[in-house]
Amino acid sequence: MKLGVLVSGSGTNLQALLDAQAGGTLAPGEIAVVISNKPGVKALERAAAANVPAVVIDHKGKERVAFEDELLAVLAVHGVQAVVLAGFMRVLTAHFVDRFPLAIINTHPSLLPAFPGVDAPAQAVAHGVKLAGVTVHFVDATLDGGPIIAQAAVPVLADDDGKSLHTRIQREEHRLLPDVVQRLASGRLTCKGRIVRAE
Ligand code: GAR
Repeated sequence: MKLGVLVSGSGTNLQALLDAQAGGTLAPGEIAVVISNKPGVKALERAAAANVPAVVIDHKGKERVAFEDELLAVLAVHGVQAVVLAGFMRVLTAHFVDRFPLAIINTHPSLLPAFPGVDAPAQAVAHGVKLAGVTVHFVDATLDGGPIIAQAAVPVLADDDGKSLHTRIQREEHRLLPDVVQRLASGRLTCKGRIVRAE
């Protein structure tokens, strides 16, 4: 299954996917293209280092639908069948999401539905929660919304700030995301209503 990975930043989750691919544990998933909505980000270097095609589609100054049409065109050129949002910091509208039914997944550094949006680990610290974590979910047209596929919890420690908590969450995220992508690619995820099961 050909995958398109959408990124906006440092791309440590992309790296986890590239490492899984190199180690043979992403198959039958195959990263066909990486698209960044921001130029010059480290994720683009990671894709290039792994010899994966990388494209910048800057969202700035574009209507959402026009931006999404550009994404869809590049994904189509590369034969992409499923999309992974790996630190992609734009909300996609139904115009895009409806083109990939149950074939877009996102990773988010909180135990959703708590703390959607930016700086989720800092939100968790500010609220004084004792457990935080990562959620991988199917994507609908809402902010960090859609049926939950998998979660992993980590403790929030007394001296945590957003950064230290995010680092602890990412250790789990880098393990969980490639695992879910592999299950998606091999057709082992089923979704009934909002309930997702893995065979
Ligand atoms: C990741 O922790 C991801 O969960 C988060 O951005 C980070 C990107 O890191 N995504 C969101 O907050 C989505 N709402 P990375 O670029 O190093 O993979």
